[in-house]
Amino acid sequence: MDDTGIRQPPAAIPSILRDTGALGFDMISQPRVGALLAVLAASKPGGRLLELGTGTGHGAAWLLGGMDATSTLDTVDTDPRVVAVAQRHLGADPRVRFHIRDGGEFLQQAGLDPFDLIYADAWPGKFSHLGEILELLRPGGIYVVDDLLPQPNWPDGHGPKVQALMRDLEQRSDCVTVRLAWASGLMLVVRTSSQPAPTG
Ligand SMILES: C[S@@+](CC[C@H](N)C(=O)[O-])C[C@H]1O[C@@H](n2cnc3c(N)ncnc32)[C@H](O)[C@@H]1O
Repeated sequence: MDDTGIRQPPAAIPSILRDTGALGFDMISQPRVGALLAVLAASKPGGRLLELGTGTGHGAAWLLGGMDATSTLDTVDTDPRVVAVAQRHLGADPRVRFHIRDGGEFLQQAGLDPFDLIYADAWPGKFSHLGEILELLRPGGIYVVDDLLPQPNWPDGHGPKVQALMRDLEQRSDCVTVRLAWASGLMLVVRTSSQPAPTG
C-alpha cells in the first residue's frame, strides 16, 4: 500500500502552500496529517473543534474540509503574521473563528464549552496545560497530537519531553491512546466516559 498520494485536498491548500513558502514558515503540518484530520473531523457532525497552533492554516483547511456545515472550529496562535495567511484563505468560512492569543491563556479562560476534537499543534496543550486541554475534551472526544517523531527543527533536549508527553498520555485512566509512527509521528487519544463500565 502506498499512502503518500493524498486524495481530494481542500481547495484552499495550493494557495496556502504558496503563501507559506513565500513567508518562509517551516512548521506546516504534513499532508497525511491533514488527510487524517479531515477524516476525524468528519466523524464529529455538529462538532466543536479546536486547533492550538493555527500556523498558516494548513491543518485548519483540512479540518474544515472534513467538517459538516454545523460544526465549528476555533483555532489559536500567537503570531499574527502567519495567521494572516490562514485568514486570507479560510476567513470567509463562517464555521471558523481565529484567536490571536496565547494558547495557554485560551485554555484557562472561564466558561469554555468542551470540544469534540482537539488538534494540539503548539506548545500549550501539549508540553504545558495538558491537564487543562484534556479536561476540555468531551467523553468520546479525540485529541490529536503530531510531531512526535524526531524533526529537523527540534531544539536540543526536546526528545525527552516528547517521550514524557507520550508516557503521561498513556498513564491516564480516562484516556484510550494509540501511537502512530507515521507521517510526523502522532498519538490519537480518546477521552472515555467518567461512568465505570458495567462488570459481569
Ligand atoms: C507547528 S506550527 C502549527 C502548524 C499548523 N497547525 C499547521 O497545520 O500547519 C505551531 C504554531 O504554534 C504557534 N505558537 C507558538 N507558541 C504559541 C502559544 N504559546 N500559543 C499559541 N500558539 C503558539 C506558532 O506561532 C506556530 O504557528
